[in-house]
This record gives sequence, C-alpha cells and structure tokens, in this order.
Amino acid sequence: MSDQMSSQLTASKRILVLISGNGSNLQTLLDHCASGKIAGEVVGVISNRADAYGLVRAKEAGVATAILAQQQFASRAEYDVALQALMDDYQPDLVVLAGFMRILSADLVRHFAGRMINIHPSLLPKYQGLHTHQRAIEAGDSEHGASVHFVTEELDGGPVILQARVPIFEGDSADEVAARVQVQEHSIYPLVVQWFCEGRLKMQEGAALLDGAELRSEERRVGKECLGRCR
Ligand code: GAR
Repeated sequence: MSDQMSSQLTASKRILVLISGNGSNLQTLLDHCASGKIAGEVVGVISNRADAYGLVRAKEAGVATAILAQQQFASRAEYDVALQALMDDYQPDLVVLAGFMRILSADLVRHFAGRMINIHPSLLPKYQGLHTHQRAIEAGDSEHGASVHFVTEELDGGPVILQARVPIFEGDSADEVAARVQVQEHSIYPLVVQWFCEGRLKMQEGAALLDGAELRSEERRVGKECLGRCR
C-alpha cells in the first residue's frame, strides 16, 4: 500500500452533525472524539433551529456552528440546495443526523449516499416517522428501541446498521420510554461512528457491511447481550 493510501485510511475523519434540538447524541459524539475513542473530529454542527440546545454544546466544545432556518426559503427544494452547499463547505467524510427533524430531498440524500447515517427511535422497520414511543405503547409492545441506519431516499428505510432494545413496562409514559431509549442511543451511535471512522463500515448495494460482511439481524440487535463482532 502506498504511503498516501495508508495515510488516507488512518487520517482522522471529518464528521458533520445535523441537529434540531437538545443534542444529547451530539454530546456523546463530541465526548467520544475528545477521548480518542472515535478516530474522527466533529468539524461542524448545523441546526435548522436557532434555539437548539445542541448549538450551545457545540460552542462549548469549540466546534463551528451554522443555523439554516427554513423560514429563509420559499420551498423545501430551495432549502435543501442551500443545505447541501453548506454541508459541502465542511468537506465531511461522514454526516451524522442526530435528531435533525427534517425530511431531506432525494438529491441531497443521493449526494451523501454511503456517508450519511441517522438514528431513529424505534426498532426499524417498525414505527417509521414520528411519535414512535407513544405508538409502541399503544400497540401494546413489550419492547422498543433505537436503530442506526444509512440514509437512503426512503424515509427511515435505509439499511439498518445497529439496533438497541429496551423493555416497555406496564404503565410507562412515552417520556419514560424515550428516556430509556436515549440511554441506549448514547452507546450505539458512537460505536457506529467509530466503525465508520475506522473504515470498517460501508453501504454497498443497499446493505450495511461491517468488515466486508453483511450484518445479520441478530448481530444488528444489541440488548442485554452484545455479540463479539460488535466491539
Ligand atoms: C433522538 O432520540 C433521536 O432518536 C430522535 O431525536 C432524538 C434527538 O435527541 N430522532 C428522530 O426522531 C429522527 N426521526 P438529541 O437531540 O438529544 O440527540
């Protein structure tokens, strides 16, 4: 392998995070990068909302921030053209959607294909879209969870990389379930970002590959037990 190729493989990856709110997932990524567990650097945080608390977290970590408010644009398409240009300015190796509550246009998604991931608060393919915790409770489910997946044109429909399960107890409120799910989000999201930054994770022909092999469904799901390959 040439020196140039090997330095490209080992170079710290440029991570761009998109948020709309609290940014607790952003915080775990910042912490993992700072401690060296993730071989990458958060080079920017973009929010569609000026009041997103995640912007404060980014500033405290010394990370560049940008706000792109939808009100400045006449249409979703115009917003997404501006968003894509702004995102490209950061030259990201990886785009991490961390509670970014907007549907992205097909053009933008295609532009970042294979280098954009999302975390969704359900055991996909169950409960795509909104209000996932309440829907799981109302359906009488005994378990719920979170999924990290590559972003494709199908909303919350790209190949799942890793999932975490939590129980739903009788009498749980949606907030209680959401809090339980978030604890798990904060372990699976940094792990997936770490894999990507180490060059172990790829999207190929609509599948998520870890170390060149498709993740089997039992490997994707971490609950009380965690499979050997997932560390
Ligand atoms: C997370 O729970 C994430 O799963 C969810 O937003 C929350 C953001 O929390 N994402 C979606 O619902 C996307 N469809 P955070 O701002 O504290 O990281």
